[in-house]
Amino acid sequence: MNTLARRMLVTSALPYANGPIHIGHLVEYIQTDIWVRFQKMRGHQCYYVCADDAHGTPIMLRAEQEGVTAEQLIARIGAEHRADFAGFSVGFDHYHSTHSPENREIATLIYERLRDAGHIVRRTIRQAYDPLKAMFLPDRFIRGTCPRCGATDQYGDSCEVCGATYAPTDLIDPRSALSGVTPEQRESEHLFFQLGHFEGMLRDWIVTSELQAGAVNKLKEWFDAGLQDWDISRDAPYFGFEIPDAPGKYFYVWLDAPIGYFASFKALCAQRGLEFDAFCGVESSTELYHFIGKDIMYFHTLFWPAMLHGAGFRVPTNVFVHGFLTVDGQKMSKSRGTFITARTYLTHLDPEYLRYYFAAKLGPAIDDIDLNLADFQARVNSDLVGKVVNIASRCAGFITKHFDGNLSAQSDEPELLRRFQSAGESIAQAYEARDYSRAMREIMQLADLANQYIDLRKPWLLAKAQEQITVLHAVCSTGIELFRLLTIYLKPVLPGMAIAVEEFLGCAEFTWSAAAETLGAHRIKPFKPLKTRIDPEKVAAMIEDSKASKAPANPLPQVQAKASEPAIPEISIEDFAKVDLRVALVVDAQHVPGAEKLIQLKLDIGTETRTVFAGIKSTYRPEELIGSQVVLVANLAPRKMRFGTSEGMILVAGSGNGELFVISPQSGAAPGMRVK
Ligand code: MSP
Ligand code: ZN
Repeated sequence: MNTLARRMLVTSALPYANGPIHIGHLVEYIQTDIWVRFQKMRGHQCYYVCADDAHGTPIMLRAEQEGVTAEQLIARIGAEHRADFAGFSVGFDHYHSTHSPENREIATLIYERLRDAGHIVRRTIRQAYDPLKAMFLPDRFIRGTCPRCGATDQYGDSCEVCGATYAPTDLIDPRSALSGVTPEQRESEHLFFQLGHFEGMLRDWIVTSELQAGAVNKLKEWFDAGLQDWDISRDAPYFGFEIPDAPGKYFYVWLDAPIGYFASFKALCAQRGLEFDAFCGVESSTELYHFIGKDIMYFHTLFWPAMLHGAGFRVPTNVFVHGFLTVDGQKMSKSRGTFITARTYLTHLDPEYLRYYFAAKLGPAIDDIDLNLADFQARVNSDLVGKVVNIASRCAGFITKHFDGNLSAQSDEPELLRRFQSAGESIAQAYEARDYSRAMREIMQLADLANQYIDLRKPWLLAKAQEQITVLHAVCSTGIELFRLLTIYLKPVLPGMAIAVEEFLGCAEFTWSAAAETLGAHRIKPFKPLKTRIDPEKVAAMIEDSKASKAPANPLPQVQAKASEPAIPEISIEDFAKVDLRVALVVDAQHVPGAEKLIQLKLDIGTETRTVFAGIKSTYRPEELIGSQVVLVANLAPRKMRFGTSEGMILVAGSGNGELFVISPQSGAAPGMRVK
């Protein structure tokens, strides 16, 4: 244990319990895990906690849609998340759920203290209400025609076509996304947290916390705009914690979500006999860090510190904000196959490739990072396989063959060894500052030096001359020593490879201070390949598997906020007979310039050709549809759209959340056949 051991509690944001972990999330969990592993290697007392964010309307509706209880849903997804994180070696000390007794207790306590200190007010507000579902509708659950550009089927808060933002009351022909009925305006009493009370405290905090420059600028904008009261309540039905003195009202998911950090840590305290107050109490002298993405900064740099301060808890030491992941320069996309889940990645590739690549790209600023798939393969192959592992594979065979696995106590190049050892402090500083890209650069520069050294000393030639055997021994031993030091420096990023190297070298678990020593006369085991080059076919297969239209029915179709389809009343067989369903052949398919969702189809239905605009662009490319058969509602009244007239509709299966599957007859059907 370091004599200057620090005590720290570190968190990553809590993933929502209604969808799978994807590579975008992993930027954050890998970034945090590297930092925590580094701190632990340095001998600090560091705990890393996280949890599933299990409350809120989308989760409640998702469970309803699947016909399970919310508790069943979050238990299943919680187990999947844990397995995904374990697959990427994200080593939480504890992983909890916000739907837990600890969280209810702390959330209630914080609320009561804020209320008693006069920071909560009650106000009646008017809000959209769905009379059929008997519930108030969040903005995202209202859809209608954009008041600016006239695009249909837009969200209640913003238009995906023209980018306008507005209030749900501005929508033309607003409808509930849940039932399809026109929402009413109803009044309800809500509870508000008075954030403005904390402006002075927050202004002080941003100075003492040493937030990133980008975060400070954002905060200044928010201060200038004025801090608004924050609505912390939601009406039943809601999946969450009922507010103790407001029956039928629940804490808004974002109130109890960050409290989940403390709840998870409290559960860890019970397991390990740690003292909760020493970390979370107002007198605490420990460090508290939250790693988050830039989209959730408001919650973590304003609401959360203010709530903590108002309720008599300690505030975060710092909040570390990262940017968003793009793949090949674009937003992750299901149709391009770049919306890659943790699970899909793991079925094709070694998780440590991604950990290394993210490390090589991550700096301390809030910049977005890009996973360029070609660069990913080139970088992993050249750095990990070509540089680092290569050092061991060039030296270890000779040690085994000529020296029975024994390293020489004598170094051939003590100067180089010392240079590697003294580089450790600068690499450590880079890790500490979350400047992993600099740390990786410095490590790879050392790896280059090691390879140049081996190139120069040519052990394969030394091995041919009996009189050079002592030199061969010293050279290969030096190579192994250098390789060991590089592995120690890479261990926060590549914990799995580090374990394999500890085993190969017969060493105790590497700590950071182990780099101050060398192995000397020491026996190693035969070398086994530690990392292999990335097989490009596996990358291609992973992309293919991630394409929405190809993916096997995802057990977890993701519902964020778009909700289930309207409830449809029973009909008679006569009603059904009124629908003229026909097999149609897609003879042409084109993009519709300016339309986000539409593909224009030319359909042959035997007797004639129809033009149909189908909202399936999120999932299909026009060219992949040509030649396939679909089912057309042939007697639907033609509909005039902005881009032309649609003469019918094709049948598509979907969960209402963007994932689509065009319905197609089995082979043998012919255009024009009636479907019944
Ligand atoms: N449940 C909230 C967080 C509550 S914390 C008290 C939430 N969940 S999330 O699942 O949407 O996101 C979890 C974390 O992953 C967030 O920090 C978010 O910024 C991050 N990311 C999600 N998608 C991302 C990318 N595409 N790229 C990088 N980080 C991303 O927000
Ligand atoms: Zn619009």
